[in-house]
Amino acid sequence: MQHFGTQTLETERLVLRKLTLDDSEAMYNNWASDPEVTEYLTWPPHESVEATRQLIGHWMEEYEKDDFYQWAIVPKDLGEPVGTISVVDADDSVGMVHIGYCIGKEWWGKGYTTEAFERLISFFFEDVGLNRIESKHDVRNPGSGRVMEKCGLLYEGTKRQADHNNQGICDSALYAIIRSDYKA
Ligand SMILES: CC(C)(COP(=O)(O)OP(=O)(O)OC[C@H]1O[C@@H](n2cnc3c(N)ncnc32)[C@H](O)[C@@H]1OP(=O)(O)O)[C@@H](O)C(=O)NCCC(=O)NCCS
Repeated sequence: MQHFGTQTLETERLVLRKLTLDDSEAMYNNWASDPEVTEYLTWPPHESVEATRQLIGHWMEEYEKDDFYQWAIVPKDLGEPVGTISVVDADDSVGMVHIGYCIGKEWWGKGYTTEAFERLISFFFEDVGLNRIESKHDVRNPGSGRVMEKCGLLYEGTKRQADHNNQGICDSALYAIIRSDYKA
């Protein structure tokens, strides 16, 4: 296993890349200020572009680390970020990363999150050499689980009242794909 940090990755329709301060307004306008996007997330909608700028500034420092993964999802035909996909938890002792994602409402249902997540799966298995990629969602947010299923993750069970987000304490459905599933 060898971590490479947030490398630029490409799919048919998307570029996945690091965020820069120049993305602050797009991030704020496209998703970070929208309470519908953050409904089942752990952070509140941003109240100003300045809040977004500060967060990106923090990520830019974190990008120095080779185990920090935070990608902007950039449709090629738009040229600006519409969401993020990132590692929100990791355990090197079992070669695992836990993936989280969000995308602006205007771009829901276009298959972008599925396309980005599938690219990360090949990056983490083929390039980084991990053994397990997992993700989870509030059971009241089934669209997120559908993305996991479409990417080949298997449902492993629901932990009752095990998580917390902007809606309060929630039941959390866990999904994962392991290297042998991927190779098959
Ligand atoms: C959940 C979310 C990431 C889905 O992203 P997306 O780019 O719209 O997903 P895709 O277009 O790749 O869709 C994948 C599948 O999920 C389905 N889906 C997406 N949103 C759905 C919803 N709200 N309800 C039911 N199914 C949904 C799509 O129909 C598609 O399935 P299909 O091809 O069988 O029709 C997006 O709605 C989002 O960012 N929501 C807010 C943030 C969030 O909840 N993040 C996840 C936290 S765990």
